[in-house]
Amino acid sequence: MQILRTVEELRAWSRARRCDGGQGIALVPTMGALHEGHASLIRAAVEARPGRVAVSIFVNPTQFGPNEDFAKYPRTFKADCELAEREGATVIFAPSVEEMYPAGAATFIEVEGLSDRLDGKSRPGHFRGVATVVAKLLNAAEADLAFFGQKDAAQVAVLRRMVADLRLGTKTVVCPIVREVDGLALSSRNVYLSAEERKQALALSRAIRRVESLVAGGERLSIRLMEAARDVLAEEPALRMDYIELVDWETLWPVLIAAPGSLFAVAAWVGNTRLIDNTILQ
Ligand code: PAJ
Repeated sequence: MQILRTVEELRAWSRARRCDGGQGIALVPTMGALHEGHASLIRAAVEARPGRVAVSIFVNPTQFGPNEDFAKYPRTFKADCELAEREGATVIFAPSVEEMYPAGAATFIEVEGLSDRLDGKSRPGHFRGVATVVAKLLNAAEADLAFFGQKDAAQVAVLRRMVADLRLGTKTVVCPIVREVDGLALSSRNVYLSAEERKQALALSRAIRRVESLVAGGERLSIRLMEAARDVLAEEPALRMDYIELVDWETLWPVLIAAPGSLFAVAAWVGNTRLIDNTILQ
């Protein structure tokens, strides 16, 4: 499988694909340390655009805060290339930091009103970094389809707004959360968890399932759903809650009554690892 390192190479590859068949290309943006969640995105992209799928692997420094895990974020490039190839990706785009942020880079994208909500509230500047790098990637790839996971539901809201506002013309496709059999949402950060923390982490998916079953039973009041989730998280005293939110998935603003399509999301610290989970309510 081809590994492209520069924006120029990626753009040339994308344009050549469009010339040979008229169809655009699909992009799957990732930070590497690929797991089955990423694989599900790649598979969906391959189904939509066989022979025209680029997977980007770039640990984006601008979306990490000064005290976050940029330096120790897992980097498993060789295994990532093997997984991407196995799943049918066509090329890997793995640029250097200097390629994505040339010397003197001064342009950033702020999605006002959304980028300081949910994860953006506890990680100031995070979504500014995400929006900036995804805009650069979509622009470089000239992608007509881009695949994202519902796992990062607030990220999806920020990126959909950005794509619409900048008229990028890329269609975003959102794929369901892939979980371990016991419910834990797959995450590149799960490798940080000790056996004990791994057990504590299950409280997040338990809280999500509890809320889903309450909603299925007719409960719609935000305050009751949030209380139920808080009770479940409290079953693990070592776990520190970051947020529990019921919001409109488009605006990320809180709603008092859950409607079909509302986003219920939780974030918590397990030891030094911050984990997130969510559900889109029926
Ligand atoms: P990363 O955490 O590597 O995730 C890449 C994509 O995989 C995201 O769209 C994410 O939602 C999706 N994903 C992660 N875990 C998943 C799971 N368990 N089930 C389904 N999809 C899952 O998100 C990022 O990278 C970055 O912020 C990025 C968009 C690449 C910008 O740097």
